[in-house]
Order: sequence, then structure tokens, then C-alpha cells
Amino acid sequence: MSTAALTPAVSPRSAAAVLQGAGRLWFAAAVIGQALFLTYILVFYVPSTLSGDFAAWAKNTMLITGYVAGDTAGNLAFGAHVLMAAVVTFGGTLQLVPQIRARAPGVHRWVGRAFMTTAIAASVVGLWMTWGRGTAETLSSAIAITIDAVLIFVFAALAWRMAVKRNVASHRRWAMRAFIVANGVWFMRLGFVAYGMARSVAGDVLPSMGAFFQVWNFGAYLLPLAILELYLLAQARGGPSARLAMAGGLTVATLVMSVGIAGSWFGLFAPVLAKL
Ligand code: HEM
Repeated sequence: MSTAALTPAVSPRSAAAVLQGAGRLWFAAAVIGQALFLTYILVFYVPSTLSGDFAAWAKNTMLITGYVAGDTAGNLAFGAHVLMAAVVTFGGTLQLVPQIRARAPGVHRWVGRAFMTTAIAASVVGLWMTWGRGTAETLSSAIAITIDAVLIFVFAALAWRMAVKRNVASHRRWAMRAFIVANGVWFMRLGFVAYGMARSVAGDVLPSMGAFFQVWNFGAYLLPLAILELYLLAQARGGPSARLAMAGGLTVATLVMSVGIAGSWFGLFAPVLAKL
């Protein structure tokens, strides 16, 4: 008996629906994760920054530089960066909600402009902190985040251009890419925590955290970007098996991401908030 006879046929429509379901599951997990990251920024950084109590940032012992007494330019840059980070995190997620795009296109346009402009401005300030203030773990991590900043500029500009040209299909693709790279710093935290948890189970079988960090500096945005490209390809041109394989791969990625989301809340963000 042939394999085709054993395998129940999956229609292109059902495979497309399964892929769409996997995309929705990813989005639901991302919304929860972004809401937790936003909560951390809003509770820890917004009150201290707006009230000028920059010294309170020192309660976050994970920061490389943060508050430095007497460094007015550096402290203002950091403050501006974290305030813009709140807009980027909130705005980016809002843009992906299909109901807002369909029912309130005016809101979608204005939030889109705010998201793109703020992501670009936050990246410019981030570049200055990295190279001007000298906030970076290693040269390779500085190079990695710089490439991420360049991708944010390019993808945001292309998403904007395509929106102005009313090329909706192309705008959607560039906007999703912009969302992914603008969230590189978020994926960085999730991956780092998820890997730390995997290592605490598997032990030294896995390479050290330092070795992982070297790779993940780049992988934090390149891996999600590669997954997005495969998803878009499967959606546009994939046959039923390619779409089902993509749906499976995306669901595994969503599970790993969810572990990172839970781990970063309980391991990174909540302990910092508990110090307030
Ligand atoms: C556009 C999306 C971005 C968001 C949402 C974002 C978010 C944040 C947040 C929340 C912090 C505070 C650190 C923490 O509490 O863990 C931070 C710090 C920082 N960010 Fe960004 N960031 C973004 C982009 C960038 C880019 C593109 C760069 C560099 C080119 C950058 C460089 C930095 C630096 C140097 C710090 C200080 C880190 C420290 O002192 O430990 N950021 N960012």
C-alpha cells in the first residue's frame, strides 16, 4: 500500500487554517509577554523617570550602566530610552490586532506613525548609549545591537513607504519585520531566561551561558526574523505539508517563547518590581 493511501489527505484550506491557528497562538502568547514587559517598564521606570528620581534605577542591579551620579546626559538618555520603550512595546502590539486594523484604520495609522517614529528615536538614543556612553557587555554584543538598530531603521522606513503607497500586502510584511526587530531586546531576555532554565535541567551538557550569550546577541532578532520569513513563505506559497510543518514549528517556538515569558517575569521583572 502506498504512503499516500495511509496519509489522510489534508486540503490546502485546512492546512491554511491550521497555520493561521498557529499564528494566532503565537500572537496570543506574544500579547501576554508584551503586556508583562510593558507592566515592568510602566511600574519600574515611568514613575521614577518622570519624577526625576533617576537614582531609583539603581535598584535594578541587572543594568550595565543605568544611573550614574553627575552624568546628566547619560541619565537623560537612559530615561528617554525607557520612556520610549514603553511606547514601542505598547504600540507595536496594538498594531498587530486585526480588529483595530479593520474597524479603526485611523487609530492604526496614528499608532503606526507613533510606533515607527519612537522605535527609530529609541534606537538612535540606544546607539548613543552603546557607543557614546559605553554601555555594552562586549564588543560583539555592541555590534549585534547596532545591526538590530539598522534593521529597525530600514524595516520601519519600508513599512512606512509601503503604507503611503497603499501597498497593503507589502506594508504588512515590512511592518511584521519591523515589529520583530524592534522587539529584539525583548526576545533577548526571553531566550536568555529560557536557555538558563534549560541549562538548570540539563546541566553542563549544554554550552555555558557565556557561549550562548555570544550567539544569542545576534540570534535574538535573526531567529525570530527567520521564523517570520518561513511563516510568510508557507502562507503565500506553501503546499499543505509545508503549511502543516510550519504550523508545528511555530507552535514549538511559541512553547519555548512562553517558557521565556514566564521565566522572565518570575526571574527578571517581578524581583526588580519587588524592590520598589
Ligand atoms: C526599539 C526597541 C527597544 C526597546 C523596547 C528597548 C527597551 C529597553 C529597556 C526596557 C531598557 C532598560 C533595561 C532593563 O530594564 O532591562 C533598555 C536599556 C538599554 N537599551 Fe534598549 N530598547 C530598544 C532598542 C534599543 C537599541 C536598538 C539599542 C542599541 C542600539 C538599545 C540600547 C540600550 C542600552 C545600551 C540600554 C542600557 C542597558 C543597561 O544599562 O544595562 N536599545 N532598553
